[in-house]
Amino acid sequence: MRSVIPAALDLSRVPQHVACVMDGNGRWAQAQGMARTEGHAAGEEALFDTIEGAQEVGIKWLTVFAFSTENWKRPPEEVKFLMGFNESLLVRRSHELHEMGVRIRFAGRRNWRVPKRVLRRMDDAVELTQHNTDMTLTIAFNYGGRAEIIDAIKTMAADGIEMERIDEGTLERYLYDPTMPDVDLLIRTSGEHRLSNFLLWQVAYSELLFTETLWPDFRRNDLYHAILEYQARDRRFGGLNR
Ligand code: IPE
Ligand code: IPE
Ligand code: MG
Repeated sequence: MRSVIPAALDLSRVPQHVACVMDGNGRWAQAQGMARTEGHAAGEEALFDTIEGAQEVGIKWLTVFAFSTENWKRPPEEVKFLMGFNESLLVRRSHELHEMGVRIRFAGRRNWRVPKRVLRRMDDAVELTQHNTDMTLTIAFNYGGRAEIIDAIKTMAADGIEMERIDEGTLERYLYDPTMPDVDLLIRTSGEHRLSNFLLWQVAYSELLFTETLWPDFRRNDLYHAILEYQARDRRFGGLNR
């Protein structure tokens, strides 16, 4: 879908890292008398339009919440659909992302519940796109912010890191992707005003943007409006701006 970058959007001040909680797929489907899973499928177009739009304005890091450590609580058929859908999305569209210059990464628990064949597809997509530099797309899959912090602490302990030496930088080096910058702008669709365990460490000073739009209806234009709102905010990081 073509759309014009708003003239008021300052391309020299776009957020470096945008994160999206892609929420509202089930409600979108149910509102049209369809099965919830149809909503997940419809979310694919929203995702790709958002990726293209993010690239167009020069966003370097885009992180999307695709499946949480808590989403295993859903009915087995929906979980099964989501595993298969994410796998098929990687098979069908990794090459396209590669051609776009997108580097694909994953954040989440690898060694817990995710089927082996899905892990293989994830590894293939990461390997294929590893040298791309235009934008990093991190797919948070089987991801929980608390799990990430616990996993980091466990690995730190296993490495014998001395307690006195631990500071924020130490813990950051043990997160799923130590090179991932803090989130500048966090967008959540579907009118829910919560984090639902997304990127807890990395959102400490993010600007939060909530929209009523359901994820399958989200397009790059909605991203641009979120960035405009972001650019109107005064980020102080605990200090004072003059
Ligand atoms: C977000 O949409 C996608 C996932 C959690 C996988 P939902 O499935 O949560 O849709 P709603 O919030 O129930 O409408
Ligand atoms: C968060 O949405 C997870 C994803 C978008 C993948 P949920 O729909 O699972 O969150 P809650 O249950 O409304 O908090
Ligand atoms: Mg939801």
